[in-house]
Amino acid sequence: MPSGERYHLVLVDSPLELVPEALWKGKDVRNDAKRRGRGPGEILLDISKHYSSMKRFDLLDGRGRPDIVHTTLLTALDSPLNQMGRLRTYVHTVEDTVIRVDRHLRPPRSYERFEGLLAKLLMVGHIPDEEPYLLSVHQATLPDLLRELALDTVVALSRRGGPVPIHQVLSRLSGRDMAFMVGAFQKGAFSPRVRALAHRVVSLGPYPLSTHVAVCKVLHEVEVFLRSGAAAGI
Ligand SMILES: C[S@@+](CC[C@H](N)C(=O)[O-])C[C@H]1O[C@@H](n2cnc3c(N)ncnc32)[C@H](O)[C@@H]1O
Repeated sequence: MPSGERYHLVLVDSPLELVPEALWKGKDVRNDAKRRGRGPGEILLDISKHYSSMKRFDLLDGRGRPDIVHTTLLTALDSPLNQMGRLRTYVHTVEDTVIRVDRHLRPPRSYERFEGLLAKLLMVGHIPDEEPYLLSVHQATLPDLLRELALDTVVALSRRGGPVPIHQVLSRLSGRDMAFMVGAFQKGAFSPRVRALAHRVVSLGPYPLSTHVAVCKVLHEVEVFLRSGAAAGI
């Protein structure tokens, strides 16, 4: 087990779910499922493929963007911080489930294969069949997860947060674990419910960043901080 404090990365309100039953009869859903050789309830909801059905059931807001989770998991799990063994990654979904992501997971590079893997995960509950699991689903709210992690410092990343340098936040921690919450939804700000769970809201600059870019920037800042501490013999 690598020593040193851990950094928990939580993707919040991720638009990741199986196609809900109400949409199973939609032509776009049926055609997509048929093309993949699965049932309509065995594929991930995807706005780029199921737009008409999602529109009919008024599901366009904050749903059906598993691609955001894909790009962000690739970024997080490939990061040097993860390779150092210092990162723990969780995906909280719009359905209030928490997916624990083992740091050794190598997500498929291809979106098609990622979709297949995550659809299977949401149906079966874990990947692979036997422990140790690389991915596992838990019925847990975001407060449940944070309570379990019992951290003194939870930082929400938001363009509307304070322009505080990340190294300043990190230097006040003195060796304790912490979490970063990043929005994995399509657009907009954290809900007041999520905002209330954060001890601080920190901005990475004035530009609106995609989730994987925000994650790349913050993990890089942590890596630089750890290197500077190591160089100073801390
Ligand atoms: C709202 S989502 C938008 C996702 C985007 N549509 C995509 O395709 O990835 C982006 C998340 O990244 C973080 N973020 C974006 N810009 C930021 C900034 N300037 N400073 C800090 N965090 C930021 C926030 O957590 C935000 O919820």
